[in-house]
Amino acid sequence: MARVALVTGGTRGIGAAISKALKAAGYKVAASYAGNDAAAEKFKAETGISVYKWDVSNFDACAEGVKKVEAELGPVDILVNNAGITRDTAFHKMTLEQWNAVINTNLGSLFNMTRQVIEGMRARKFGRVISISSINGQKGQFGQVNYSAAKAGDIGFTKALALENAKGGITVNVIAPGYINTEMVQAVPKDVLEKNVIPQIPVNRLGEPEEIARAVVFLAAEEAGFITGSTLTINGGQYHA
Ligand SMILES: NC(=O)c1ccc[n+]([C@@H]2O[C@H](COP(=O)([O-])OP(=O)(O)OC[C@H]3O[C@@H](n4cnc5c(N)ncnc54)[C@H](OP(=O)(O)O)[C@@H]3O)[C@@H](O)[C@H]2O)c1
Repeated sequence: MARVALVTGGTRGIGAAISKALKAAGYKVAASYAGNDAAAEKFKAETGISVYKWDVSNFDACAEGVKKVEAELGPVDILVNNAGITRDTAFHKMTLEQWNAVINTNLGSLFNMTRQVIEGMRARKFGRVISISSINGQKGQFGQVNYSAAKAGDIGFTKALALENAKGGITVNVIAPGYINTEMVQAVPKDVLEKNVIPQIPVNRLGEPEEIARAVVFLAAEEAGFITGSTLTINGGQYHA
């Protein structure tokens, strides 16, 4: 029986590429999203992948959402914590709302989602938890105190949870992408990208979502059982923690 993979924020950007790559690798895939119904319906029509709407920053919504996925597809063996947002501004202008939104969506979601599936993974003695952090959680970024804090938190979460579950067939890993060609990065003004971002990337281009997705497929595999607690940096050579 094909294993079930749940990808949060799996209908757009990096998450959509991850959902498609996992499906192509033979998994049964569920993709969650927050509110962009049009993008989710388009994704579903194009890929045949089931989509589910809930807010990953809300614990009870995650409990309900995972229950629905498991009732329809079966127990979740592979969880990809990909959903994320930015609310950039200098710290001295940052509102509590901007702080909370980013912390709860990018870091709180790892608790909210992983807590729903970890007991089942432990009982079945198999699981893969793969979270998407960021280069800016490793090195810090101007205007992103909230995002850098959350993404650094994703790395600490991974290291500790990996230790707790290493004997039980569950691996926990995190990917730290550099600048990837998605709507999140396309929101950065073109001249800023060309003058300030791309010159910092030794490979001299943005990464593509599929270049993150193939690493997720690698980490999800049965054969990847000796890789746990690790941070995989995929950033075109820009930064090495
Ligand atoms: N793009 C980059 O260069 C880059 C670099 C490093 C790390 N990352 C990280 O990679 C991940 C994906 O980024 P992306 O660029 O692909 O983002 P994106 O294109 O903006 O897509 C984000 C996805 O997450 C979903 N989402 C956002 N908030 C959510 C919430 N509260 N509950 C449920 N789903 C939610 C969105 O749903 P809707 O469609 O409903 O809005 C969408 O499916 C994020 O964690 C991001 O921080 C991105």
